Amino acid sequence: MANRYKSDLTWDDVTPEGIFLIRRKFIAGAAALGMGSIAGPAMASKYSTDEEPNTWEEITSYNNFYEFGTGKGDPKEHAHMLTTAPWPIEIGGLVEKPGTYDFTEIMNEMTVEERIYRFRCVEAWSMIIPWNGFELADLLNFVGVKPEAKYVAFETLVRPEEMIGQAWNTVPWPYREGLRLDEAMHPLTIMATGLYGKTIPNQNGAPMRLVVPWKYGFKSIKSIVKITLTDTQPPNSWNQILPNEYGFYSNVNPKVDHPRWSQASERRVGGGLFAKRIPTLMFNGYEDEVASMYEGMDLRKFY
Ligand code: MTE
Repeated sequence: MANRYKSDLTWDDVTPEGIFLIRRKFIAGAAALGMGSIAGPAMASKYSTDEEPNTWEEITSYNNFYEFGTGKGDPKEHAHMLTTAPWPIEIGGLVEKPGTYDFTEIMNEMTVEERIYRFRCVEAWSMIIPWNGFELADLLNFVGVKPEAKYVAFETLVRPEEMIGQAWNTVPWPYREGLRLDEAMHPLTIMATGLYGKTIPNQNGAPMRLVVPWKYGFKSIKSIVKITLTDTQPPNSWNQILPNEYGFYSNVNPKVDHPRWSQASERRVGGGLFAKRIPTLMFNGYEDEVASMYEGMDLRKFY
C-alpha cells in the first residue's frame, strides 16, 4: 500500500510551503483539464496574487508583535507562552446580537478560504503571504450591524503573564486598531486564522488577526479579543504613539513619504542582501478594488 504514495518528494517538500506548492500545481493541472470544481475551496481566490509566496520560515520568524518584544525575532521566541484556547471574543457596541463568542463558535459559522496577499509594512519591507481566513463582513453580518454604525474598533489581548513585552510601555496596552465600516465590509478585508493551510502561529496573531492588504501592516491587528461597532472614529495605537508619523487611514501610498524614510520602494523579505528594492504600488496594488472608497481624498496627503 505504501508504494501507492511513493513519489519523488524530498524532506524539503514536506514543509507547509512544499505541500502548498504541490497543491498549487495540482490545482493548475485540474483547471487545465476543466476540473476546476473538484479543487473546491483550494481554488485560487480572484483576490489572490500569483506572485511567489514567502516561505513559512520567513513569514513566521520576522514579525512585529510588540506584546512579545520589539525585535523581529522576539515574537517567534516568546509567543509560545500564549494560550489561545479558550479564546472568548467580546463583540458589542452598535450590533444586533452583542455578546461574548468563543473563537471555535465563530469558526463554526464562517467559511475559510485561501487569500494570497501582498503585505507591506510601514517600515518599508514586504512579503507575499498565503493566508487562510474568512471575510470580516461575514462575521459582522453574523452579529448584525446597526444602521448607526460607522466604524469598527478592535483590541488585542492584555495578558502580561503570557505576553512578556507588555512589561514595557512601548504601546499603551491594549494594542488598538480601527476601520471605517465600508473598509471593514470590503471583501478584501479578512480575519486570518491560518497560513499555508495550517493554524496560524501565535507570532502571527493566533487565533484570529485582521488583514487589510491595501493598508500598512500595523492596521492588521493581531490576537483580537474585542470588536466594537461605533459611530465615532476609534483610536489606533500607532497614531496615539506618534500622530505625526502614523495616521488612521494609513493606506499604502508610494507618493507620501514617512517623515523619516521614503515609501516609494520596499525590500522584499527573503530577497537576500543584494536584492533590488521593488517599487511600492498605490494601495499596495489593490487600487482597482479600493480606490473608490477614498474619492475626494488628496492622495498626496498624509491621512
Ligand atoms: N498587532 C498587535 N497586537 N501588536 C503589534 O505589535 N504589529 C503590527 C501588526 N499587528 C502589531 C500588530 C505591525 S507594525 C505589523 S507590520 C504587522 O502586525 C506584522 O504582521 P506579521 O508579523 O504577521 O508580518
